[in-house]
Amino acid sequence: MKETPNHKPLIEIRGIHKKFGNKIVHRGIDLDIYEGEVLALMGGSGCGKSVLLRMIVGLEKPDQGTLKYNGKSLEALSEEKLIPIRKKIAYVFQYGALFDSFSVKENLAYPLREHTQLSEQEIHNKVMATLERLGLKGTENLYPSGLSGGMQRRVGVARSIIMNPEVVLYDEPTTGLDPFNTQQILKTILHLKQQGTTSVLVTHDMHAIFSITDRVAFLKEGQILALGSTEQIKNSTIKEVSSFIHGESY
Ligand SMILES: Nc1ncnc2c1ncn2[C@@H]1O[C@H](COP(=O)(O)OP(=O)(O)O)[C@@H](O)[C@H]1O
Ligand SMILES: [Mg+2]
Repeated sequence: MKETPNHKPLIEIRGIHKKFGNKIVHRGIDLDIYEGEVLALMGGSGCGKSVLLRMIVGLEKPDQGTLKYNGKSLEALSEEKLIPIRKKIAYVFQYGALFDSFSVKENLAYPLREHTQLSEQEIHNKVMATLERLGLKGTENLYPSGLSGGMQRRVGVARSIIMNPEVVLYDEPTTGLDPFNTQQILKTILHLKQQGTTSVLVTHDMHAIFSITDRVAFLKEGQILALGSTEQIKNSTIKEVSSFIHGESY
């Protein structure tokens, strides 16, 4: 993907301001996210990356500014009208957020039972195919407590993508994972990209950034300090960006 794609953005973020009490988090964020791209959100701890992801999925409201999805302003929509849009945007929680009393298979089947008319056989097939995609074949009857942290994270990704979302938002999907689990998640993000899915990932993982992202947005003090192709950000001469990248990659 080119650094300045010439097609229309899928998500348009304009003039976002957000504070919690006296703590100012966002001071005017403008960002376009294009269909089919993999965009990384980087920046120091506490700079508002997770809050921005939560806003895109509607879990958090900006104090000022607008978020548009496919040209539609999200703030103007009623809760009811937001439901179909939320189904198109999946959010992968940092720690899986699985139902402990459900098996892996039941965890994945849950959204399909709740939101689709698929038959039990179709649900079974989709669950098994999604597990296979994440290298989780054979875990279907296990419970989350019987899985390693990395496997739980992969099940969380599997559950988030099972509804074929248009956009997947990942909050630190590979933080703390070993190389095998990391690769399984990165491979899945690339596979979804080939199918046209848009991905936004908050990450500190330089390997992930350089191997799979098209563009990187770097947040600092509540604003976008730098935005460009992965290559441009990697070679950025902005001091904060280069010291963040080079400091973290060792
Ligand atoms: N619900 C909340 N209530 C109060 N403060 C919050 C809330 N969510 C986030 N914050 C604060 O907003 C800032 C940005 O948080 P966050 O987006 O989680 O940072 P990060 O970039 O590390 O993901 C932090 O200082 C955090 O403590
Ligand atoms: Mg965070």
